[in-house]
Amino acid sequence: MLKTSPIGDLIIELSEIDSTNNYAMRLINEGMAEHGMTIRADFQTNGKGQHGNVWQAQESKNLLCSIILDTHGFQLEKQFLLNTMACLAVAETLVQQYFLQDVSIKWPNDIYAGKRKIAGILIENQIRGITWSHAVIGIGLNINQNNFEDLNRATSISIETNKQFKIKQVNKVLLKWINIYFQKFSQNETDLLKHYNQLLLHVGEEINFKRNFEYFKGKLLGVNADGRIEIEINSKIKKFQHREIELILS
Ligand code: BTN
Repeated sequence: MLKTSPIGDLIIELSEIDSTNNYAMRLINEGMAEHGMTIRADFQTNGKGQHGNVWQAQESKNLLCSIILDTHGFQLEKQFLLNTMACLAVAETLVQQYFLQDVSIKWPNDIYAGKRKIAGILIENQIRGITWSHAVIGIGLNINQNNFEDLNRATSISIETNKQFKIKQVNKVLLKWINIYFQKFSQNETDLLKHYNQLLLHVGEEINFKRNFEYFKGKLLGVNADGRIEIEINSKIKKFQHREIELILS
């Protein structure tokens, strides 16, 4: 199904909210959601990260937004492909518009600039029976924040470029790239996964992993269409799902 109305035509701007993802989900549940509707907030009191973590962001310094996508007509198996399109749109924004060097994707959906995380993505799906009705793409992109509790692991566009940026403007650029990549997703483009794998952090490298409290080494081969990571361990290829295994960054 090809959605024609551009994503981001309607942006709801909020000064404070619990979580833009929660707000988007409430709109969906109340039947008020439209494809492409975007919610952006200056501050979240209960920003949500992956694995039930909290997403912390200083007020008015970063992009905190959620994009509602109508996914009726798409197969549930395409969920990981939707994740690849969101990751690629964020990465393209950073590379094409802000000329960031060394942008990569840490499996499954963290965006890195060099060795530090610059953006996180949390996708929540509304599934009714076997119908995938909506997806909420929640994006936290660090823009003007210059200090983080764990400086070694986080960065922002401002830290990388020594410049400040208008958050609304970054949002517009991001939505432009989301539009481009959602078209590719809608057209079932096989290149999405290839492109995702090209940007994959540590692809082709021998790195450390952790599984069930055990550490081991393996060569990261890539990620397949269902989102599983493929690792060569002692000349055998093993596949793992997200949550089953953790990448240990040096
Ligand atoms: C991660 O843990 O890396 C994912 C972080 C996702 C954060 C964004 S901020 C906007 C949207 N609303 C939320 O509550 N979370 C996402």
